Amino acid sequence: MSQEQIRQHIEHLREELNRHNYLYYILSKPEIGDFEFDQLLKELGDLEKKYPEFDDPNSPTKRVGSDLTGEFVQIKHKYPMLSLANTYSDEEIRDFDTRVVKGIGESPEYVCELKYDGTAIGLTYRNGKLFQAITRGDGVVGDDVTANVRTIKTIPLTLQGKDYPDEFEIRGEIFMPRKVFDDINAQREEEGDVPFANPRNAASGTLKLLDPSVVAQRKLDCYLYFILGENLPFKNHYENLEKAKEWGFKVPENNKLCKNVDEVLSFINHWDSGRKKLPYDTDGVVIKVNSYQYQKVLGFTAKTPRWAIAFKYKAEQVTTQLISVDFQVGRTGAVTPVANLKPVKLAGSTVKRASLHNRDQMELLDIRIGDMVQVEKGGEIIPKIVGVDKTQRTLFSTPFKFIEQCPECGSELVRPEGEAKHFCPNQVGCSPQIKGRIEHFISRKALNIDGLGQETVDLLFSKGLIKDIADLYALRKEQLLNLERFAEKSADNAIKSIEESKNIPFPRVLYGIGIRYVGETTARKLAMHFGSIEQIEKVSIEQLLEVEEVGERIAQSIVEYFSNPITINLIERLKLVGLQLKMDETTNQLVSSKLNGLSIVISGTFSRISRDELKELILKHGGKNVSSVSSATSILVAGEKIGPAKLDKAQKLGVKIVSEEEFFEMIG
Ligand code: IVH
Repeated sequence: MSQEQIRQHIEHLREELNRHNYLYYILSKPEIGDFEFDQLLKELGDLEKKYPEFDDPNSPTKRVGSDLTGEFVQIKHKYPMLSLANTYSDEEIRDFDTRVVKGIGESPEYVCELKYDGTAIGLTYRNGKLFQAITRGDGVVGDDVTANVRTIKTIPLTLQGKDYPDEFEIRGEIFMPRKVFDDINAQREEEGDVPFANPRNAASGTLKLLDPSVVAQRKLDCYLYFILGENLPFKNHYENLEKAKEWGFKVPENNKLCKNVDEVLSFINHWDSGRKKLPYDTDGVVIKVNSYQYQKVLGFTAKTPRWAIAFKYKAEQVTTQLISVDFQVGRTGAVTPVANLKPVKLAGSTVKRASLHNRDQMELLDIRIGDMVQVEKGGEIIPKIVGVDKTQRTLFSTPFKFIEQCPECGSELVRPEGEAKHFCPNQVGCSPQIKGRIEHFISRKALNIDGLGQETVDLLFSKGLIKDIADLYALRKEQLLNLERFAEKSADNAIKSIEESKNIPFPRVLYGIGIRYVGETTARKLAMHFGSIEQIEKVSIEQLLEVEEVGERIAQSIVEYFSNPITINLIERLKLVGLQLKMDETTNQLVSSKLNGLSIVISGTFSRISRDELKELILKHGGKNVSSVSSATSILVAGEKIGPAKLDKAQKLGVKIVSEEEFFEMIG
């Protein structure tokens, strides 16, 4: 085959695959089976590998997402991404209609749509190809998440037909279907990861992942509901959306053109129950004036259009009985009361437990065992108890008495001034606190001991093999092999990752030991300021307050931590096993002042060092690492695959741009 024939064949395969994607994902009318589809995809992938000169970022093979972006570039929206005013009652909808009629002098057509509960996205298409996908951000500037969006199968990379404008933007909502959400959460719980609170958080969290191949596995979906551009084929919203369907977009099926406000209200009423059967979450209805001419006349307030409004359905409530109250003790010793309820169906799942937050909250509700309580599912995974039906209370019910002793270790609980929660003060002897601290210590941002997980910590603790973080370093392979969870390889891995953690730099160790209120940034600042744990052990509150970001509460907590002889002993043992408890020569405080006073942005990927190491270098030479380019930026260090928008912005603002090599020359 000649080069030209190969190019044509590749083009043909792409067109065919795009057409089949459309038939499958948008029209739900596939013409070929999965196997045939995969064969075509494989043929195309092989050809693209063999002939990279014909590569195209919009090829259907790019759906799996392989290019790592490393970070997101911020892009200004061509049209600001506004939100909608909310309403909660029929009267408010009628008021909206009255305002509209007054504004345009007649009763308009409205389009009613469901309000999808996900995360907003703006997709720009140029010459029929997906050019850019930007999140809402602050409405003016959003993140460029194009690489991730390319992995969403229902978003066309190349459009169908020919009659689309050369350039336009289409907006919609990226969401995670409920079934996908349930599966992902089940897997996360099994692996000891924190589950997502709801499908909305899961969708927005997924969209912000740095690795598009992980995004591809999460099976996000997208409905498109708003087109913006100069040369749209029709003069109204409804027809343009219908047209967009022909171009290959997934436009909601249940949009309805309504002739008057009564039809709007019946749409709202119909979907109040109807939406519960949908496989994804919706939280209301969006009502839009159909005609663009009228939209223009009505215009905008500072934040929202006057031609559209959202109706929000009330959160679902259900009544059930309070059976008992458990008390959970967290890593910091915080005690949380949790209600055990008679199981009841609510918003598609069975509810058995609800958080009661703290003693004040329980007293406010005057909640008692045996009470009938109203439960509501908000955004959180654990539902809330919002009220008690006191009319159903029996004569024998007595006020609930909050516990005074820790349910785990029996210590007298304390409630520090200014805190809503009670705490168990027995930091060294209370098992959930000990296990929680060990889990924190091994977590990725701390000592990153990835051969162990929450369940293994539980097991090691229950077998008496670890009682604190220092015990991890005395673990031997044979001990692990005696446990059911471990085989030769996993035991090796665990021991290896424990060993490797001895090289983790001091700031992360300081964060990992888990001093209350000392997060990652504070730990880094403390480490840089004082240089070693020995120094920090000795300092006064006043000296601590000199450190940037350290206030009274943190200073107090640090001093308290180091005044405990048990912690001092623990630190001594960590020293003996060889953990990094001071800044070493290479991670030492200030190496030079060559970057003093400079605000430096880094972008792209680097060949000699990782991004984190580069950030560290900036700090060590007196510079400040900032995340986005602005007029206050002094230098942009441009790595490979740097986002074009960031580069462009830096050039426009006259920010100095240096390569990786030039940066190393600067710091000598
Ligand atoms: S139209 C200027 N239509 O709700 C009008 N928004 O509270 C732009 N949303 O930011 C929005 N479903 O993220 C529109 N059918 C729908 C929607 C919808 C969900 C979201 C969207 C928007 C937010 C406003």
